[in-house]
Amino acid sequence: MRSWAEGALALVILLGLGVALFMFSGESLGEGSTATTAPIIVDPDAAVRGEIIASRTGCLACHTIDGTPGSGPTWRGLAGSSRPLQSGDVVTADDVYLTNSIVDPGSQVVAGFDNIMSPDYEDSLTEQEVVDLVEYIKSLAS
Ligand code: HEC
Repeated sequence: MRSWAEGALALVILLGLGVALFMFSGESLGEGSTATTAPIIVDPDAAVRGEIIASRTGCLACHTIDGTPGSGPTWRGLAGSSRPLQSGDVVTADDVYLTNSIVDPGSQVVAGFDNIMSPDYEDSLTEQEVVDLVEYIKSLAS
C-alpha cells in the first residue's frame, strides 16, 4: 500500500513538473511572451469536475471554449491573458481574477461586454465548485 501511494505521489509530482517544464519551454519559444507570466499549472481532476459543473450550471450558454465570443468572453486562452476592463484597468487573468469573475462578476466587467452574469453564483456554488471551474478554465489556456 505504502509503495503504491508513494508511486502515485511521485507520478503527480512528475506530471506537475512536466506541465511546468512544458509551459516554460513554450514561453521561451513564444514570440511576444512576457517574462512575468507565471506558468499555468492545472489540477486535472478538478478541471474534469469543473467541466461538468460548467455544463450543468449553464455557464456554457454564454461562454464558449473554442475561441469564439458568445454573450460572454470565450474561455479559450483566457487564463493568464491580459483582460482590458470597462473601468480602463488591464488585469491578468490569474486564479484570483478568475475566482472573482465568478463570485462577484460585476466588480471587474470585461471591456466590450455587458454586466449580465448572475451575481448569485457565490451563493449557489460551493467554494470547491468555484475552484473546479477555475481549474477547468485554466485547462483551456492554450
Ligand atoms: C448570462 C450569460 C452568462 C452566464 C450564464 C455566465 N457568464 Fe460569465 N460572463 C458573462 C459576461 C457577459 C462576461 C463579461 C462581463 C463581465 O466581466 O462580467 C462574463 C465574464 C466571465 C469571466 C471573466 C471572463 C474574461 O474574459 O475575463 C469568467 C471567468 C466567467 N464569466 C465565468 C463564468 C462561469 C464559471 C459561469 C457559470 C457558473 C458563467 N460565467 C456564467 C456572461 C455569462
